[in-house]
Amino acid sequence: MKQITFDEALKQTAPHSVSLISSLTPEGNTNLAAVCWWTFLESEPPMIGFSMANESYTCELLKKSGKTVLSIPGESIADEAFKCGTASGRDVNKAEEYGVTLVDAPVKYPVNSKVAFICSVVNPVPVGDCTFFICKIDDILYNERERHLYAWGDSNKLAALP
Ligand SMILES: Cc1cc2nc3c(=O)[nH]c(=O)nc-3n(C[C@H](O)[C@H](O)[C@H](O)COP(=O)(O)O)c2cc1C
Repeated sequence: MKQITFDEALKQTAPHSVSLISSLTPEGNTNLAAVCWWTFLESEPPMIGFSMANESYTCELLKKSGKTVLSIPGESIADEAFKCGTASGRDVNKAEEYGVTLVDAPVKYPVNSKVAFICSVVNPVPVGDCTFFICKIDDILYNERERHLYAWGDSNKLAALP
């Protein structure tokens, strides 16, 4: 075996499951950010976690509100999900701008999701330039009509598995 960099290891362990993290803005809008660094943590009680760059709007919002939805976007919104990982909610209302229809819920998430984990943040843990949000899962919803999206390469390609 040979030594490789962290970035290379990310490429070599792809594809990575793509999620969208919903957060509430002070104006009452829903911000969506693409996140691949998410993981299941515990089944009883059900817990999930994800790592967000401290500079992201999502990180700022979640430290205040404590409520989020981690949704698995379906293939039908692959382009929109990717765009949610390339712009900040500080500059654009992504759901509105990209035409992502949201479920009417206390914290909204895309209608075209395969799975949605309704979560409460229980512990935001500082990890270098990121914060790892440890969340309790309050509810899980499933839509059998959608196919799961994965990211390849430098997270610049999103597609469902063949
Ligand atoms: C496929 C994909 C996966 C991403 N995964 C993460 C991630 O796990 N953690 C993270 O902090 N940013 C990740 N990003 C980048 C954020 O989505 C991006 O910085 C976004 O603009 C943050 O939006 P916000 O400022 O509205 O929170 C990812 C981007 C893409 C395209």
